[in-house]
This record gives sequence, structure tokens and C-alpha cells, in this order.
Amino acid sequence: MKKIGVVTSGGDAPGMNATIRAVTRVARSKGLEVSGFERGWEGLMEGTFRRLTRRSVGGILELGGTILYTVRSLNFQTQAGLRKAARSLAKNDIDGLIVIGGDGSFKGAFELSKEIDIPIVGIPASIDNDVFGTDETIGFDTAVNTVVTEIDKIRDTAISHERIFVVEVMGRTRGFLALTAGVTAGAEVILIPEVPLKKEAMIQTIEENKAKGKKSGIIVVAEGVGDSRKLALELEQKTGSEVRLTVLGYAQRGGSPTARSRLLGCLFGNKAVELLSEKQENQVVGLRQGKIGTTSLEKSCKTTKPIDANLLRLSRVLAT
Ligand code: F6P
Repeated sequence: MKKIGVVTSGGDAPGMNATIRAVTRVARSKGLEVSGFERGWEGLMEGTFRRLTRRSVGGILELGGTILYTVRSLNFQTQAGLRKAARSLAKNDIDGLIVIGGDGSFKGAFELSKEIDIPIVGIPASIDNDVFGTDETIGFDTAVNTVVTEIDKIRDTAISHERIFVVEVMGRTRGFLALTAGVTAGAEVILIPEVPLKKEAMIQTIEENKAKGKKSGIIVVAEGVGDSRKLALELEQKTGSEVRLTVLGYAQRGGSPTARSRLLGCLFGNKAVELLSEKQENQVVGLRQGKIGTTSLEKSCKTTKPIDANLLRLSRVLAT
């Protein structure tokens, strides 16, 4: 193992830069060269990369986004694209590849692994926290904190105006971000795609709260649940309360990573380089019950990560 490649792919996540820095510095400490491919799989296919050195990754630990840029590449999802990427890796003498990204990126990495005979290690980084094999992805904690900060502000105006706020958060088809942010922001109702929507029960909760003298409330809705605008309108009609909608949007993906997201970047980056230098085949690094471990790339991208049933139960107890 002389030279490794690193690529960031899919939606960016705060802490990706901390991870690039850790990968580079750990690799350099082992005498490995590091090529940072730019613009995700596109850069890999085109062979567009820059050499990363200890110095070139200085000053990026605290930055959100990714200095390597990222793209959702449709070309890569074709056989021709995969072969192009394989040729580019061979041409550039890459002996091992680190993919920093989420679930979709690992599916791409798994397909690529069938075309090449160098090891790939996945580092989970996504605000969605939907990667099987890790309790937490890099960037998730930052996004949770961003959502909670915004909900705290929204609650001020909700109380003053005695309004119900529907707050839509990201997460693609999953509810990890909505559930953790909802619990930690004290939301009265949390709606996630993993639990069938029971509108009548939600309306009853709002009515009961009103009867107890609580005229405002926060309903956190994961984007995967459906049309939150329609939901807000329906709630207003059925409850007679004033209902407003806030879609938090892309602010959730930006910002300086929290200490926790940076630490995961450092720990996962270190583990990924260790795995490559031991020539361990196609793994995803992860945090499980406080310990850094690994899961096979294939298992990670073929298994659906379950939602935390205990947290879900607790969310209901705490909201009443
Ligand atoms: O995967 C992260 C994420 O922010 C999801 O929560 C969201 O659904 C999606 O990316 C948005 O993707 P795009 O940046 O392609 O619009």
C-alpha cells in the first residue's frame, strides 16, 4: 500500500473536512500518499484529484461542507461509469480507496468494488444517520444541534402567538434526525416515516393540550412523511388553532461541525486508514455502543438501519 484515494460523495455533512484531515494526517504518518478526488464520483471517473499533505489539510477542521466538493453523479451509476472509475484508479496507481458519504455512496462503492481489486473503506458521513453499521454518522450531531437551535427560536414565537408550528426537517426517507431533534427540542408531536401517520390521534393530542391550557406546540415532521404544507393546512382546519409551517431546509447541512462530529471524523478517519494499511477488504467503519468497529460494505448497504425503539417510546412519554 503506497497511495490511497479519498472521495466525498452524496449530500455534504459537517465533519467531512475533519475526516479528510484525519485520513490525510494518519496516512502521511504511515508514509502513504493521499490523492483527494474532487466532485465525488465525477472526479474519480475523470481522474481529477489533488495531492493532500499534512499542510494542505490545515485550517479545515472547523469548516462545514467538503473541500473536495461533492456531486450526486448519475453517470457513475452506469456500468460504463463504474468501469471508467476503475480505469482511473488503476491509471493513478491508487492502492486503496476511502469513501466518505452516506447510504447511497456506499451502494455506489459496493458496485465499484466488483470492478476493482483494491480495498474500499466507507466512512459514514450524513446528516440523515441512516447508515447500517454505525449508531451515529459524522454530521448528524451537528444537524441535530442546528435543528434544536431553530426550534428553540420558533417556540418563542409559537408561545407568544399561541400557535402550532409544523417544523419540517430533512432525513430523506428516514426519521433519525426528526426523532432525535424532536426529543431534544421537546416537540409535542414527532412524525417519522417509520411510524404510520395517525392524524386523528395527533389532532386529539393538540385538543387535549389545549384543554390543559397549552395553546402552542411544536410538531416535528420528517420530510419523508409527505406533504407538510397539506398537513399544516389540515391541522388548522380541524383544530381551529393557528398553524404555521417552517421548512428548515439546507441550513441543516451546513455550519461548523460540533465537537462530537469532529471527533467522529478523527476516529473514523484513523480507523479507515488502519484498515487499508492492513489491506482489509471492503469495510464500513462505525461507532457501536461507544466502540469503533467495522461492518462489511455489502452488509452495510444491503441492511436497513432500524429506528431506536426505546427513543421512540420515550419521545411519547416525554411529550405528554
Ligand atoms: O442525504 C442528506 C440530505 O440532506 C437529505 O436529508 C435530503 O433529503 C437530501 O440530502 C437532499 O438532497 P439534495 O442535496 O440532492 O437536494
